[in-house]
Amino acid sequence: MKQRISEKFQTLYRSEGEFYASAGRINLIGEHTDYNGGFVFPGAIDKGMIAEIKPNGGRKVCAFALDLDEYCEFGLNEEDAPVQGWARYIFGVCREIRKRGGEISGFNTVFSGDVPLGAGMSSSAALESTFAFALNDIFGLGIDKFELARIGQSTEHNYCGVKCGIMDQFASVFGKAGHLMRLDCRSMEFEYFPFDPEQHGYRLVLLNSRVKHQLTGSPYNDRRASCERVAKVLGQEFLRGATMEQLEAIKDKISEEDYLRARYVIGEERRVLDVCDALKAGDYETVGARMYETHWGMSKDYEVSCEELDFLAEVAQECGVTGSRIMGGGFGGCTINLVRTELYDAFIAKAKAAFAERYGHEPVEIPVVISDGARRLA
Ligand code: GLA
Repeated sequence: MKQRISEKFQTLYRSEGEFYASAGRINLIGEHTDYNGGFVFPGAIDKGMIAEIKPNGGRKVCAFALDLDEYCEFGLNEEDAPVQGWARYIFGVCREIRKRGGEISGFNTVFSGDVPLGAGMSSSAALESTFAFALNDIFGLGIDKFELARIGQSTEHNYCGVKCGIMDQFASVFGKAGHLMRLDCRSMEFEYFPFDPEQHGYRLVLLNSRVKHQLTGSPYNDRRASCERVAKVLGQEFLRGATMEQLEAIKDKISEEDYLRARYVIGEERRVLDVCDALKAGDYETVGARMYETHWGMSKDYEVSCEELDFLAEVAQECGVTGSRIMGGGFGGCTINLVRTELYDAFIAKAKAAFAERYGHEPVEIPVVISDGARRLA
């Protein structure tokens, strides 16, 4: 990929820049908890974005998206916002840096990625973190890593219309090979957890349903609004820390729908902590059991699944897979599956065949390798 980027960069700009990369992410458990001040448990993966970048001394950004074969130029002021969706991510990062007082000039760039788009693996966070990390480094801005993640998150909020939490950008910036990270999204404290399921006889695999997930303008923001309404009735800033008893006590003051949303989130908080304890004890069966609970919570109470993902989770259960659930924001994308090694081949074959028979195409198998996050490439 680097080679192709470099060739295009030469052709377009007749020079050479620096290379930067960042990653997509998986999340073992802790879904829709980040914007509720709860816990998440993600890790960066070996699929991400690479960009070559060189300041051009002017006030314009010249950007080429290699995978789309599209070029775009834009300025650095608020009124210069580009129309292309992909360019808005880069523009947003520039704007958010400038809002924080970061002095950047124009630059030339070519970028490419291998995170499947719309699969719930955070291709957009990978793009934002690549540019936030790179511009901070190139222009010597001295912005810390948490703020780099927030720059990506604010880009989503202010330029892409998604009121997302911090998980994806955090994972993409802080990712470390062989480790998941448990992040407390209220205090922003986090801990690296060594994660090597193969050593325990398990494999982690994503199955991409290829139902496109698209958070922009989606009910994602509605879910967040439901949670905020319930937190308000409870007199709390976040749903984090609320108990089922407290929720029952205000049941007649909130809508049935908001009640279900909050019930899922409160349950999910406990599940993340259970999974962390189980992992420390090498108890992968408990990890898997919680994953299924999350799936059905997201499907029935949070209502962010779809028929195809429910089908994949059911096939996993029938095959005796340890854990399976929808991953990421929902409304399409992948399931994440924890599978005993000896069952792996049979499960994948069965899931592909059964899914193809029902939906006319196979889901895509994506083995997970936990890798490093944002970095400069040699
Ligand atoms: C998307 C958002 C994240 C998080 C997940 C659900 O990926 O970007 O902030 O809310 O959905 O866990």
